[in-house]
Amino acid sequence: MSDVFENVMDLAKRRGFIWPTSECYGAVAGFIDYGPLGAMMKRRIEDIWRHFYVFQEGYYEIECPTIAQEAVFIASGHVKGFSDKMCQCPHCKEYLRADHVADGGGVCGAATMDNETLAAAIATCKCPACGKVLGNVEVYNFNLMFSTTIGPGSQRVGYLRPETAQGMFVDFARLLRFYRDKLPFGAVQIGKSYRNEISPRQGMIRLREFTQAEAEIFVHPDEKNHHPAFSRYANYRMPLLTYVHQQKCEPAVEMSMREAVDGGVIANEYVAYYVALTHEMLATIGIRPDRLRFRQHLPDERAHYATDCWDAEVYSERFGWVETVGIADRTNYDLNAHAKQSGTTMTVFIQYDTPKKVQRRRIIPNMGVLGRQYRKKAKAIFAALETATPSPDGADVTVDGETIHIPADLFEVRDEVVDVRGEEIVPHVIEPSYGIDRMCYAVLEQAYDEDTVDGEKRTVLRLSPKVAPVQVAVFPLMSRDGLDTLSEEITTTLQKHGILAEYDDSGAIGRRYRRQDEIGTPFAITVDYESKETHTVTIRDRDSMKQVRIAIDKLPGMLPALVGGSIRFAEIV
Ligand code: GAP
Repeated sequence: MSDVFENVMDLAKRRGFIWPTSECYGAVAGFIDYGPLGAMMKRRIEDIWRHFYVFQEGYYEIECPTIAQEAVFIASGHVKGFSDKMCQCPHCKEYLRADHVADGGGVCGAATMDNETLAAAIATCKCPACGKVLGNVEVYNFNLMFSTTIGPGSQRVGYLRPETAQGMFVDFARLLRFYRDKLPFGAVQIGKSYRNEISPRQGMIRLREFTQAEAEIFVHPDEKNHHPAFSRYANYRMPLLTYVHQQKCEPAVEMSMREAVDGGVIANEYVAYYVALTHEMLATIGIRPDRLRFRQHLPDERAHYATDCWDAEVYSERFGWVETVGIADRTNYDLNAHAKQSGTTMTVFIQYDTPKKVQRRRIIPNMGVLGRQYRKKAKAIFAALETATPSPDGADVTVDGETIHIPADLFEVRDEVVDVRGEEIVPHVIEPSYGIDRMCYAVLEQAYDEDTVDGEKRTVLRLSPKVAPVQVAVFPLMSRDGLDTLSEEITTTLQKHGILAEYDDSGAIGRRYRRQDEIGTPFAITVDYESKETHTVTIRDRDSMKQVRIAIDKLPGMLPALVGGSIRFAEIV
């Protein structure tokens, strides 16, 4: 096989999976169109994601605008710090990502270098566009957000969101009420995000408009080690490439999630739970476990908001290990930031099981005397006294910048024990963040295969039936003698049972199989002359190419089971 990337993209273009956008005007790098089959496959992947996060986890989906006002991204830190390091090739004038140039030139540690160090490090590297040695270049920060203005003639700045996550954070107060003021809860969102990537050249891997599927799970900070359903994944095993392994250049070590948490490898049960869920989810869409690894961020690689972060990386024959999902413990960073910026409370009242007895000192002012003496200032003095620290001769309070001494005989200090019912806390956020386009590419690349059938080359997409756009093809052996009408009836019946069935009567049967193999259709039904006599059809499996004859009335029950994976083709042969 020649370069799998070229082959996959050629097939994807030819058969309607992925197209360059606005091609008739000349495509724009970093944007793609999903064609009819690509859009369907993407939808299936998103629906599998929904199955895990919405159905299994019970986190409802929300949908926020893709443009938000500036304040949102000032709070989140994106206005100030969401940038990549850029330089310009002095020869061909191409704008380049300086850290990528460094990586390509074998320079280590570029991600954590300051601009001057990086500029010096890449001076001997070649420009990936023109191939000439860069020499002296300036490296500077380029903010990746697309900015716009909101409203005609408006000065109101807005940005296209660089992640869906902020929508869940700014909706926190409403989400909290929706979930009846109880932790933990989660909200998820699937939608477009935008980043003005510098010279994206990696097909579907680095886009300027891409789809994210993100979950924000709000938890009590003291409960991060008690995921209520942790037992589901406690014994789930996988190789983990910790930051310590990376620093020592050691390989990943396989362990269970229980061992990872108990051994301090993964920060807490919540992060470990979503690492395992992500592994299961990626395997469900067809990612091979031997091409999937979980890599912990190095301490200096983590985002400013994260305490622990793991990337699910999928191996690509063209691009190497590609970050496809990030699972981060974002702590209370975002909620604190939005609370401060917006002036809105973003806390949860946590009621204790039994009220706590708390020793409290109350200062009770002599209102009559203080009121007469201080008149207009009295109210402010009463308030200031509540938090004052009195000495035996009185208390100093500050009102409107003026320090006022209140003698001890004008207030009473009462030490009492009070019942405290609970406390206000700012939840922490665990965030699994999936890049749907990268998942789509990985699925296509791993499914692409070529073999030889009857002496002819066959191109086949070995897609999981769960993500294949067309789930079954229905072929009349001849488009006459009633075989066509029976085939159409079968197609309609299967469609009514939620199966995407495609009727095809054009060309030799072998060509029809090849057409469907190439787009990954896992099953093909052939209606032949025997079908009319015995009310049976043959069903063919794309991968083994085995065929089995079964009763037509069994199809509506069998096809959904085959597609959903509850039975396998080998079981019906
Ligand atoms: N809310 C956290 C967040 O956005 P991220 O690691 O920047 O974290 C999450 O992005 C995922 O989004 C990545 O793992 C990747 O799959 C996808 N992603 C990020 N930038 C992308 C781009 N330019 N093109 C395609 N996918 C991208």
